[in-house]
Amino acid sequence: MADPRAILDAVECRSVSPVFVGRAGELDTLHGALARAGAGLPQAVLIGGEAGVGKTRLVEEFTAAAARRGAVVAAGGCVDTGADALPFTPFVSALRALRRALPEDFAAAAVGREDELARLLPEAGPQPDTPRTGRHGEEGTARLYELTARLLERTAARHTVVLALEDLHWADASTRHLLSYLLRTPHTGRLLILAAYRSDMPRRHPLRPLLAELDRLRGVRHLRLPRFTRRRPPAGSPASWAPHRTPPSSTRSSNAATATPSSSRNSPSPPASNAAPA
Ligand SMILES: Nc1ncnc2c1ncn2[C@@H]1O[C@H](COP(=O)(O)OP(=O)(O)OP(=O)(O)O)[C@@H](O)[C@H]1O
Ligand SMILES: [Mg+2]
Repeated sequence: MADPRAILDAVECRSVSPVFVGRAGELDTLHGALARAGAGLPQAVLIGGEAGVGKTRLVEEFTAAAARRGAVVAAGGCVDTGADALPFTPFVSALRALRRALPEDFAAAAVGREDELARLLPEAGPQPDTPRTGRHGEEGTARLYELTARLLERTAARHTVVLALEDLHWADASTRHLLSYLLRTPHTGRLLILAAYRSDMPRRHPLRPLLAELDRLRGVRHLRLPRFTRRRPPAGSPASWAPHRTPPSSTRSSNAATATPSSSRNSPSPPASNAAPA
């Protein structure tokens, strides 16, 4: 009988480094934002890059370092559920994590508004029985945005909070609107909002107009993660390090950090060959 291990030879190998390499410029930007947030200036950083480029890993490495420095990390990701993405999914997870990490601050921040908050977090209190449709529905949604903003602001009054939202390319409209509201509305608090998304989206993807809108906001920074390539491996990487995906030559990009104030840059041009998320 043939050696069953031979079957593994046919499996495509993805080289994954257990060591985090490169991304020094991006980490500098994130730590700078963390320091400003800790000083009471709310910050926001968008992190874009094509599938597999290392967005999650960067967020994980950074948030682990931020947590070691005493920040509270509340993370939530969007889920690929097709056309009917669940409303507010990443905010629900992140607020839940925040409530677990800072129960007293969270309760004090939510006091008197528990029933409205229950629309996002059912465990926060009894659900309000006001209708969700028509004008009342719109007013309720506006109040929910406002409530979330104040909740974050107050919970982040004493502790630095990093709200890390992942996979925004799968966000539903309510998540996009709430993110837009949070980043457009002036607020206070030791809050850093990170929002990561895949840049290889179709041209008409609904996240694109939001990114363009956010790009015009002062104070929102935008990191666009370039791929590592065999020719240009990350600084300090071991000789054996290999990228998990080799790009076509026409789309190779520099591995220099590309953090710039968002207002001064053009929108990304994703490689047409890459499959786009829905
Ligand atoms: N700077 C890095 N150093 C070492 N390994 C890395 C680095 N960046 C990414 N990786 C590894 O590459 C793989 C893909 O990275 P990751 O999951 O972060 O990509 P992604 O951009 O979040 O992808 P997706 O769009 O599918 O969510 C992971 O195994 C990750 O650990
Ligand atoms: Mg990811």
